[in-house]
Amino acid sequence: MDKIVSLCKRRGFIFQSSEIYGGINACYDYGPLGVELKRNVKEMWWRSMVYENQDIVGLDAAILMHPRVWEASGHVAGFTDPLVDCRVCKMRFRQDEIDPKKFEKRQCPSCGNAGSLTDARQFNLMFKTHMGPVEEDASVVYLRPETAQGIYVNYKNVMDSSRKKIPFGIAQIGKAFRNEITPGNFVFRTREFEQMEMQYFVKPGSDEAVWNDWRERRMAWYGKIGIRKDKLRFRRHGENELAHYAKAAIDVEYEYPMGWKELEGIHNRTDYDLSRHQEFSGKDLTYFDDATRERFVPFIVETSAGCDRTVLTCLVDAYEEQKLENETRTVLHLDPKIAPVKAAVFPLVNKDGMPEIAQKIAADLRGEFIVFYDDSGAVGRRYRRQDEAGTPFCVTVDSQTLKDETVTIRERDSMEQARVAIRGLAPELKRRIWAE
Ligand code: GAP
Repeated sequence: MDKIVSLCKRRGFIFQSSEIYGGINACYDYGPLGVELKRNVKEMWWRSMVYENQDIVGLDAAILMHPRVWEASGHVAGFTDPLVDCRVCKMRFRQDEIDPKKFEKRQCPSCGNAGSLTDARQFNLMFKTHMGPVEEDASVVYLRPETAQGIYVNYKNVMDSSRKKIPFGIAQIGKAFRNEITPGNFVFRTREFEQMEMQYFVKPGSDEAVWNDWRERRMAWYGKIGIRKDKLRFRRHGENELAHYAKAAIDVEYEYPMGWKELEGIHNRTDYDLSRHQEFSGKDLTYFDDATRERFVPFIVETSAGCDRTVLTCLVDAYEEQKLENETRTVLHLDPKIAPVKAAVFPLVNKDGMPEIAQKIAADLRGEFIVFYDDSGAVGRRYRRQDEAGTPFCVTVDSQTLKDETVTIRERDSMEQARVAIRGLAPELKRRIWAE
């Protein structure tokens, strides 16, 4: 993980937030390459959810919502972690992360002192703020801890305006905030993050089949963005692990450097959310099925992925230090579809008109995707820099170009080169980038 963190900083993928002030814990900023990678991940998710399914539409709800939403959702009462303090070293832990034997002896996992741990206190993970100029209880609002609730409270609006019939889904990408007690592992667990969530509204009774279907579809999507299959697995939640809203939950897990961990959750939330919002808002959220003349509160199957965690997974999965004959090559084998820069263009040498031709090629390609022009240093070094940034293709203008208007395309993973006519370069690159 240290190597990923340092590559991210060196190449401009991810920086510590407010670094010049010493940083702020568990918040990160995406640099020029990171923001492109993240956008591409979101774009692939949106495409697979909204563009490719007639029964799913998009939404972008506000982060700040009516505070009653979080009472209805159960977050005010139940979105808590049991927190334990050490009286000696002042460290703070989640009780469920302490070895039960040590906790029984009240032994601090950090300083080792026995009897130093306090009783567990329930700590709510929601960030609170105030709306308007007066900081009083009546003006409290929360930064949303999940994007899902914005979808539930809009379910009627969306259904009526887009004339959807059940079953149908609503997809959303947006920021979520959690005052995590033990954030860490870079962008794996942060206090500000982005979620990509889809809520699928179904008739009670069809929920289990739909839940089974969506878990397979979500697993397949990770293959589409290039994650290795043998690094992914399902893990079903035991009865005692289930969140307060879930009848069944399964995680897509990835094998990170720190072990197998959750990447996405697929949850059967039953009619819990809509029933609660119906109760708390006093609005009718039932659905009337014209065909069967039945009225019911829809069940919800949710797919909930972390965008930052997916970006981290892509980076971890793609990273390789390859031993070559005389050197070690650091390469990011990012799938071309999500790679930030799709192609780099170089003149082999800075003379004989090669830079001008290369500049023109880069300018022509730029309308299609992100292209990087580089003429500094030996061409071998330029290839290595692009390997580390995950750029799948390097295009080089050489002396042959001057004779027959062809260039080489060098493919990042195999390092193989092929000659193509400048005329056919854009379609060839596009074919290679978007190949399934
Ligand atoms: N709406 C359901 C929900 O929010 P969750 O399991 O709490 O479920 C879903 O979160 C996903 O959001 C996780 O699988 C993870 O990818 C991401 N996520 C949750 N907390 C996170 C955090 N503190 N930092 C980064 N990503 C997080």
